[in-house]
Amino acid sequence: MKKVIVSGMRTTGKLHLGHYLGVIKNWVKLQDDYDCYFFAADWHALTTKYDDTNELRQNTIDVITDWLACGIDPEKSVIYVQSLVPEVAELNVYLGMITPQNWVERDPTLKDMAKILKTKEGQGSQVNYGLMGYPVLMSADIMMMNADLVPVGSDQVAHIEITRDITRRFNNLYGEFFHEAQPLLNECALICGLDGNKMGKSFKNDIKISDTEEETAKKIMTAITDRSRLRKDDLGHPDECEVAFKYWQIFGSDEEIARVKEECEKGLRGCAQCKRELGAKINSILAPIRERRRYYEQNPQLVEEIIRTGSQKARQRAGEVLDKVKDLVKIYK
Ligand code: TRP
Repeated sequence: MKKVIVSGMRTTGKLHLGHYLGVIKNWVKLQDDYDCYFFAADWHALTTKYDDTNELRQNTIDVITDWLACGIDPEKSVIYVQSLVPEVAELNVYLGMITPQNWVERDPTLKDMAKILKTKEGQGSQVNYGLMGYPVLMSADIMMMNADLVPVGSDQVAHIEITRDITRRFNNLYGEFFHEAQPLLNECALICGLDGNKMGKSFKNDIKISDTEEETAKKIMTAITDRSRLRKDDLGHPDECEVAFKYWQIFGSDEEIARVKEECEKGLRGCAQCKRELGAKINSILAPIRERRRYYEQNPQLVEEIIRTGSQKARQRAGEVLDKVKDLVKIYK
């Protein structure tokens, strides 16, 4: 029996290289060794974007199209949409009943989300009951498939701690059933944004999987380099290069990295030329992914079918788990 993996992403728009390198690439590798369930967390998107839902549906499609482009394979993994598995909402009710209020109030990731929200204007700045339930709903996602492992970025670990607490409490109250899911972090280097800060859509410093080659090349030209270097034949300091050399270290081969470092240090490579080459390098690595993305974009009915089939499969397992939960809780059936 293979171990079960669950992971999801909030559907807040097209994905960028931070998602790809930090999470999806890892998922692609895990597909062969585990029973994988990957879902688009559209309810979780609603916890903060409830005031503007015009793009909610398209965002779900975009996220799943990005996954398919990156190599998440519907033949190997179950790909589904959270809101198409209503069993998750039902499990969320049972878990909510046994989760002390202070467990969710303590969640540091949630506190950060609330803080960001409060800086917004108007209605959308409110922290609602649904947002407070974020870690409980996330626990329902994970426990719905009785998962063993949850491959996520380190920012999600605090939430998963709560999932483990809720799991233990459920098992204590109603009988041992749920596995205690463990976060699975990957070793990959975190990619910073073009300005050197954390890559994020809201910071406008990201490179999207779906960007064209021209857009990518243009964005790379804005990447911060060695701020002390004014003329192209000044000697460079790769270690102080804030973005471009870091990208080389992620995308380049060992020989390329060594060559870039040497030429920079000897003043043989200007920053503009360096970034032109870097843009071409990144584009060549992304080429097969973008080609697959275009294929799915041009065949939207295929994506739709993958979503429907995957969600049916997810409901199958969810139904079995929920049935067991109802027995354990001794609710009317
Ligand atoms: N909170 C995750 C994020 O922001 C998305 C998510 C929702 C998730 N439910 C999950 C991740 C369950 C892993 C498991 O990206």
